[in-house]
Amino acid sequence: MCFYINLVLVFNMCSWSLSQQAEHECKRHPAGGDTPPDTSTRSSTRLILNDEKSKNNNNISPTDGGSTTTATTTPTSAEPPSNEPWDKYRLPKTLMPVVYTVELWPRLTPDPKTGLYIFTGDSTVEFECVEETDLILIHSLKLNYTNLSNGLWATLTSVSPDAQVPSVKTTWLQNVTQYLVVQLDSKLTKGHKYTLATKFTGELADDLGGFYRSEYEEDGKTKVVATTQMQPAHARKAFPCFDEPAMKAIFHITVFHDPGTIALSNSEEQESNSVDIEGHKVMKTVFKPTEKMSTYLLAFIVSDFTFINDTIDGVLIRVFARTPAIKAGQGDYALSITGPILKFFEKYYNSTYPLPKSDQIALPDFNAGAMENWGLITYRETALLYDEAFSSSSNKERIATIIAHELAHMWFGNLVTLRWWNDLWLNEGFASYVEYLGAHEAEPDWNVKDLIVLGDVHRVFAVDALASSHPLTSLEEDVQTPAQISELFDAISYSKGASVLRMLSDFLTEEVFKKGLQTYLNKFAFGNTVYTDLWDHLQEAVNAAGTKLPHTVHEIMNTWVLQMGFPVLTINTTTGEVSQKHFLLDPDSQVTAESPFNYKWIVPIQWVKTGTSQEIQWLEEKSATIETMKASGAEWVLANYNLVGYYRVNYDQGNWDRLLNTLGINHTLIQVINRAQLVDDAFNLARAQIIPTALALQTTKYLDKERDYMPWQSTINNLDFFYLMFDRTEVYGLMQNYVKKQVTPLFTYYKEMTSDWTTVPNKLMDQYNQVNAISQACKSGHTECQTLVKKWFNDWITTNINRIHPNLRSTVYCSAIAAGGVAEWEFAWSKFKEATIAIEADKLRSALACTKEPWLLNRYLEYTLNSTLIRKQDATSTIVLIANNVVGQSLAWDFIRARWSYIFTEYGGGSFSFANLINGVTKRFSTQFELQQLKQFKIDNADVGFGSGTMALDQSIERTVANIKWVEQNKENVLDWFINEAKQ
Ligand code: BES
Ligand code: ZN
Repeated sequence: MCFYINLVLVFNMCSWSLSQQAEHECKRHPAGGDTPPDTSTRSSTRLILNDEKSKNNNNISPTDGGSTTTATTTPTSAEPPSNEPWDKYRLPKTLMPVVYTVELWPRLTPDPKTGLYIFTGDSTVEFECVEETDLILIHSLKLNYTNLSNGLWATLTSVSPDAQVPSVKTTWLQNVTQYLVVQLDSKLTKGHKYTLATKFTGELADDLGGFYRSEYEEDGKTKVVATTQMQPAHARKAFPCFDEPAMKAIFHITVFHDPGTIALSNSEEQESNSVDIEGHKVMKTVFKPTEKMSTYLLAFIVSDFTFINDTIDGVLIRVFARTPAIKAGQGDYALSITGPILKFFEKYYNSTYPLPKSDQIALPDFNAGAMENWGLITYRETALLYDEAFSSSSNKERIATIIAHELAHMWFGNLVTLRWWNDLWLNEGFASYVEYLGAHEAEPDWNVKDLIVLGDVHRVFAVDALASSHPLTSLEEDVQTPAQISELFDAISYSKGASVLRMLSDFLTEEVFKKGLQTYLNKFAFGNTVYTDLWDHLQEAVNAAGTKLPHTVHEIMNTWVLQMGFPVLTINTTTGEVSQKHFLLDPDSQVTAESPFNYKWIVPIQWVKTGTSQEIQWLEEKSATIETMKASGAEWVLANYNLVGYYRVNYDQGNWDRLLNTLGINHTLIQVINRAQLVDDAFNLARAQIIPTALALQTTKYLDKERDYMPWQSTINNLDFFYLMFDRTEVYGLMQNYVKKQVTPLFTYYKEMTSDWTTVPNKLMDQYNQVNAISQACKSGHTECQTLVKKWFNDWITTNINRIHPNLRSTVYCSAIAAGGVAEWEFAWSKFKEATIAIEADKLRSALACTKEPWLLNRYLEYTLNSTLIRKQDATSTIVLIANNVVGQSLAWDFIRARWSYIFTEYGGGSFSFANLINGVTKRFSTQFELQQLKQFKIDNADVGFGSGTMALDQSIERTVANIKWVEQNKENVLDWFINEAKQ
């Protein structure tokens, strides 16, 4: 199952909780590393940061002239120390940038003296004075400034004719708030324009943020790429800038680079010439001025990559990657779908693509999955490169959806940008919804739109059902520090955002939704908005279309975005009574957060009764009677048709019985998404003690007849929790037998469909479910399955030719390594090291965590902190994969505990995701002893801190308490249920 994470989005983090891995299970955010800097809490409590402990106050004081000064920086703390403007995280509203001219020269070889990779820069920014001030605050992080003609770090000139130019009095770095402070001797004049100039040096570190370096091997040589990741607040690490999304400006970028390398940026190349600087022959590539845009969308890259290209209606589309990857055709798929997806969004938004070109580039080191830089989208290799010989259909699906996601941002996010990060959920939630529409356009046979149910709705239900969840919206003033901004990239913003927008589009109708969207984009092009601007435009579209709604778009949506959580509806088909209640996974958990609506929602109920077509009914109160929902005889009622609503549903026992009966007799009478939903609702209602666990287990009985992917996947995800709780108890064996019994017909079905595993099923969903059939059969001890995969893997070892189909590789590798010993592990490790395609390396990296040998797992854990063995981007997910293995669980926990201070210090500001890590290594916890350990861990490391893992740690404690209770209350019942099943 995809790794469900509570907070801090698990980019690329997909893991499998048991040793058998199902490759296709991971759609959103597979493997890896993870999130932006990682040293925060959501609340305004003061943080203890590693750097703060070692250096007390290292703000660099006002400059006193002299030569280049080195300024080290302190990371953010939540509360600035004073009320001075430079101690506030938000820029004052005094100045507005207009145009920047930035020249950068990254060095792709280390400085012989220091051994460091660096870049040098020269930048000017023209800005307008909006309010009189004698202070210029401009963001700057980890940049060392050169003294200019005035002996200071910045000079000021006037653009407006006749304007008096104040002199720069002092310059200094304010490290906590990440400013270069320029104090003037007199005030700037309102309405006048000025230019600020600086020269600086920065480190081109391998830290995956700002202007950074990525390394890879080619032909036995190490090669270096200089690349960028600016979102959310790293542009300031590349050059001094007003680094807030509403500070849009035009950028003139120039990049110096070695002959034989190419430079790319957001806009087209204007010219590229060979020049001589400081005795070096270098290329000077000047880019055309960009459109008016935000700093977080900038990108510049130097590499010796090659590309393929195409043109669609005058727009140049290029895909860049390492030369061997391009030569092998690995960019072809991405190139082939980009044009159609761009065209789709042009129609959907009724707006032509705003730029003359669209570049996409695959990078060997990349923290997230992809980044929507305007005109130059960056990806990790696994998210862009496709090779039929290595990539599974799930890898392909991810490429299509991620491209669609980033292309969707080219308008929604880039052309029109939310004013501040507190509204990030709308940006990411929107792209996460329409990515399915874009991918559907490219691959209409896939039924990919259905997959939002598993990939987002189910994923976020798990998080949003906790008492410690949070609403989609936050107040602008509550999001200040870069760390607080980073925390917003979580499952709530992405998946709940996507889910509620899908619900909105459904009840408005897609036509009305699109209309509102189109006028919104048109009105605010090149500008900034707040999320309610979209509601306004949707409301106008509703009014124009005459759509009937019980309330305004604002009023309805407020109930979904201003309060956390979601309701469970209870439908009594005897009385027609429908009621709603805040759904909490742990009914004893205390909800301390107040809600403006007292946890009541305005719920669109899409429902059907046996043999009737669906209709919509609104529930506005805590309860209501809907006469038509009364059912008689064999009739059943089913609500939340296709799971378009963001809520769960419970029924009276009679209706449950009739639904279960229908599943047993002719399950296709119930639509496939709802079959998946009945299972998911039942399991979660049982976890929340609303229905008996036996009823939940009962929903899995019909699976011996089920052939569709979604209900199977939903079941596997839910049984996963049972495995986590019971795989160290006597329940395990019985459960294995039950799963084996249920999955055997599926295994046989696919064996026949594929003529004894020699062909590939036609439909995508069948390809996915074939993987489920194998992974579940092998895991539950189906001997034929186990023999089969062992043989496939051994054939590879003995012949050195890999004949395993890419769709099956993840699960086959994992099963074989789990069943094997050191020889299998070493073989896979050597293949991992040799792999020239990241998608194959990733499959092996996951499978290596499946071994049952503790010493191999321990050694593998050690490898994760050595970036020459495991890339930094993959460190967290590898540890979590090991923890998912029942044997690796305690090893990973010990590993993390023993090294917490080291890990926190070394990775605190970089690629490590502490939330993922803590959630990942503790999710099996379900005993008092483990709870004690967890609490002790919190006490022992209080002085070191937990960064973005702070909330995850508290949630893990909350989850462990709930798990202990659940196991206590359910173990006997579950055991009995399986014993009974075994008798049948
Ligand atoms: N804007 C994000 C990437 C990002 C996230 C940058 C957090 C910096 C901090 C991008 O649009 C995105 O959402 N990428 C996703 C892929 C998507 C298909 C969900 C990712 O990286 O996983
Ligand atoms: Zn996004």
